[in-house]
Amino acid sequence: MNDTTAFDAAALQEAAKRNLWLHFTRHSAFSGADIPMIVRGEGQYVYDQHGKRYLDGLAGLFVSQIGHGRTDVAEAGARQAGELAYFPLWSYAHPRAVELAERLASYSPGDLNRVFFTTSGSEAVESAWKLAKQYFRLTGQPTRYKVLSRYIAYHGTSHGALAITGLPDIKIPFEPLPPGGVRVPNTNFYRAPEFVADDVTAFGIWAADEIERAILREGPESVAAVYLEPVQNSGGCFPPPPGYFQRVREICDKYGVLMVSDEVICAFGRLGYIFGSERYGYTPDIITFAKGVTSGYSPLGGMMVSDRLMEPFLKDQHTFLHGVTFAGHPVSCAVALANLDVFEKEDLLGNVRSNEGAFRATLEKLYDLPIVGDVRGDGYFYGIELVKDKVTRETFNDDESERLLRGFLSHALFDAGLICRADDRGDPVIQLSPPLTCTQEHFDEIEQILREVLTEAWTRI
Ligand SMILES: Cc1ncc(COP(=O)(O)O)c(C=O)c1O
Repeated sequence: MNDTTAFDAAALQEAAKRNLWLHFTRHSAFSGADIPMIVRGEGQYVYDQHGKRYLDGLAGLFVSQIGHGRTDVAEAGARQAGELAYFPLWSYAHPRAVELAERLASYSPGDLNRVFFTTSGSEAVESAWKLAKQYFRLTGQPTRYKVLSRYIAYHGTSHGALAITGLPDIKIPFEPLPPGGVRVPNTNFYRAPEFVADDVTAFGIWAADEIERAILREGPESVAAVYLEPVQNSGGCFPPPPGYFQRVREICDKYGVLMVSDEVICAFGRLGYIFGSERYGYTPDIITFAKGVTSGYSPLGGMMVSDRLMEPFLKDQHTFLHGVTFAGHPVSCAVALANLDVFEKEDLLGNVRSNEGAFRATLEKLYDLPIVGDVRGDGYFYGIELVKDKVTRETFNDDESERLLRGFLSHALFDAGLICRADDRGDPVIQLSPPLTCTQEHFDEIEQILREVLTEAWTRI
């Protein structure tokens, strides 16, 4: 590190503390400590302002599928900015949005042929709710407005998306939220109710049937949609039990409720497929996506919608009364196309499918540690649940969790060179979602760092 770097680093820190407001971040933690400053990335790694290297075990925030520093993708964005930097998708089209919509339709399940772009996941989730409401008004069912979603599930932060989110702590300060959010059980088999705790299929059918019971309780004529992630992130990667989504599909069809697959994390290779619904063999009515569609080289989100939902809007004077300025931004669409080219050229889906077993097996080595209760997930998407007692599955109380996660693990993992997430929005978990280019050497590095830090964590409980 030379003097200039040192000076810049100090000035950046000072300015960050003075002028920048971080998201979902306790700023008091930085009164006596530096804000981590990531300045560049290359492949599976990022580097801080002091030149220290970190394995990006979270793909930034479930985003950087192809990894960092890809100049080919960056250049596609730069070329587009030179050709047409901006034009809205309000009454006009532009070629990159058309090409991307066509390409996404070619990957999507069933008749999800129509793409409504947004700039983020929250906007996608929000847009799907608004579409459901307006669709039902147009088709003579104006009383349908409620949305079902699962306990602890995260679906975004704007008021509508937050009403769908199932995390009480991040909702309470913003009450009252738009009415209509209803919770149903998630698919955390590790913490399944006793009567289905020995049978994952029975557990899945019970969890799906709880959706039916909730629809009946609320009144089917009031329910517009159910939002489900293919693998629920928040709470630490809950994959679907066998038959779960097929049963949910039947229930949605029976009561005329729209099935929304929120794939903001699970699309674009995270589970080895372009869309997570494909992996688990179901066809939703709407898919929401963001994050990996551009691998973060520019922001973009959207929803894929079935022809059936578009149909009423193709007639008479009807218009979907919704839009945002930067949705389907030409630069982001060009970047998304280049990102998908990388997926194809480098067979990233194939890489995930052939290596996911090795990733799981490497993480499962951690079961010999007393603190590791459950390793769960699919594809390149894992949660490791930490427990106080493996046999009874006793979890940590709030104080212990605070000390363990915020007081120790988050910093220790970062200091040891691994970016991942120690999270206690449900029971304490470590979340992993590395770039799709990772191979055994990266799995080993993740396992070694986790082993070292979790071993130390156990001595501090
Ligand atoms: C499943 C899911 N839905 C929606 C969102 C919100 O996306 P964004 O942060 O882009 O608004 C997220 C963000 O992590 C998510 O994981």
